[in-house]
Amino acid sequence: MNTKLLTEKDMDTAAAILRNGGLVGIPTETVYGLGANGLDSGAVGRIFAAKGRPQDNPLILHIPEAAWLERYCRDVPKEAYTLAERFWPGPLTMILHRREIVPDAVTAGLDTVGMRCPAHSLTLEVIRRAGVPVAAPSGNTSGRPSPTCAAHMWEDMAGKIDAILDGGPCGVGVESTIIDLTCSPPRLLRPGGLPLEALQEVLGEVAVDAALLRPLGEGERPKAPGMKYRHYAPKAPVTVVAGPAEAAAQYIAAHLSEKTGVICFAEYAALFSGCTVHVMGASGDLAEQARHVFDALRAFDGTDVSEIYAQCPAETGLGLAVANRLKKAAGFHVVEVGR
Ligand code: TXA
Ligand code: MG
Repeated sequence: MNTKLLTEKDMDTAAAILRNGGLVGIPTETVYGLGANGLDSGAVGRIFAAKGRPQDNPLILHIPEAAWLERYCRDVPKEAYTLAERFWPGPLTMILHRREIVPDAVTAGLDTVGMRCPAHSLTLEVIRRAGVPVAAPSGNTSGRPSPTCAAHMWEDMAGKIDAILDGGPCGVGVESTIIDLTCSPPRLLRPGGLPLEALQEVLGEVAVDAALLRPLGEGERPKAPGMKYRHYAPKAPVTVVAGPAEAAAQYIAAHLSEKTGVICFAEYAALFSGCTVHVMGASGDLAEQARHVFDALRAFDGTDVSEIYAQCPAETGLGLAVANRLKKAAGFHVVEVGR
């Protein structure tokens, strides 16, 4: 298949491809998504094929405004509208009860569906022009780091999908926060671009799924099916070094070999000058770290790096999402230092 690269002037083309059952890489504020008409089971099936995604992992639906929620969801609680008012368009996905119109192909047979309104003007306009909700997982090949620019999408999907709409680099850089509103108290299923603390301000108590904090035991199942898979992984094994930044940097510096790759905060890059280094951002700048964490994880593939050490922020604010992505990439191989 000859994959087209589309830009802002091609929004009608993108909308027509979606309406006709094709696949389009779409920009969002979090990561690029691999979009299809969310009401067309055949089109949705092609997403799974292009990504190599396990069939039991449901997709989320992207809509241009909260007014569309009623079309696809029933018993929408008032909290959903309060959250939409505060945080949409933005990096928040809400799990709600689905209506029959949503195909099993999207929900993997669950009676709930994830709903999201992304903060990207091109994609919002394409969805409006297509007139259908757009089912879209992150646009990476299953298991690889999520794409945060059109070039990453191209790397993974060229030749496999109809088009990629280039909307520039993603401003947030980690996927949306997922909150399950079908249980009480609401449950955080994935930390992401909207900090947990912002949800707690609106919702009060929020439960946190155990799958976010530690590797799951034999037979344990996370509530977001996708959280059980190894994710975001570069080809070389990753070790996360958690703890105060200075102590973590010193630990990594003491463990370097010729083929070590390092993901670090800007202040410490000079310590690793002999190695392949990717800087996430300054140690105090969580937004910058979020924008670069997937870049960094992707960048070692195609080098001869045979092991990767990563510094890791404290787990508050956006740091919870950045740390979660790094730890998942490491298969929860974490060394704690200096505490
Ligand atoms: O920021 C994002 O959310 C990006 C952009 C493209 O919008 N999308 C994204 O989709 O990250 P994906 O498929 O890579 O991750 C969605 C996660 C998966 O872990 C999936 O298991 C979970 O959401 N999920 C989807 N529907 C669910 C449901 N009904 N109940 C529980 N978890 C669900
Ligand atoms: Mg994904």
